[in-house]
Amino acid sequence: MSHAEDANGTRRDFIYYATAGAGAVVAGAAVWPLVNQMNPSADVVALSSIRVDVGGVGPGTQLTVLWQGKPVFIRHRTEEEIEAARAIDVSSLPDRLARNGNLPPNTPANDENRALDEDGMWLVQMGVCTHLGCVPLGDGAGDHNGWFCPCHGSHYDSSGRIRRGPAPENLPIPVAAFVDDSTIELG
Ligand code: FES
Repeated sequence: MSHAEDANGTRRDFIYYATAGAGAVVAGAAVWPLVNQMNPSADVVALSSIRVDVGGVGPGTQLTVLWQGKPVFIRHRTEEEIEAARAIDVSSLPDRLARNGNLPPNTPANDENRALDEDGMWLVQMGVCTHLGCVPLGDGAGDHNGWFCPCHGSHYDSSGRIRRGPAPENLPIPVAAFVDDSTIELG
């Protein structure tokens, strides 16, 4: 947590509210192709940090935010999703690393090391398949009740970890932190 706070502290000048920019926030993964066609301008792509209001994101739903030109999935997970993610033996995973930009590179892929908060209610990850970069489908998609990339059939679990298919790595987790009860800062 502390290093994330440090990062925030150095970037206050670059805070923008995602909701302030048209097209910066979209309602779901299905909307992504439209946003992609909008070709976000260079200044939008360059935003180093944005804040996202997640107050309206209930359990079992997610928000897709465009940040630095890429979709970020912000999911409010259900108890079932958290339990399933935490019951997995990390040694059985194709990629055993957390891939969490908030933690050291060698951190293991336990769900606790991927969720944003201690209780695991919030999962924030890049919505970019680690195979060839398609945007996976969410809301419990795929064989492992998480995300599914239809391009070549990669199945991610409810922690965004690759479980089956050609993707080599878990969905990466960007630098992120809660700045108040209902606001997440990315970057
Ligand atoms: S790009 Fe996702 S499986 Fe190939």
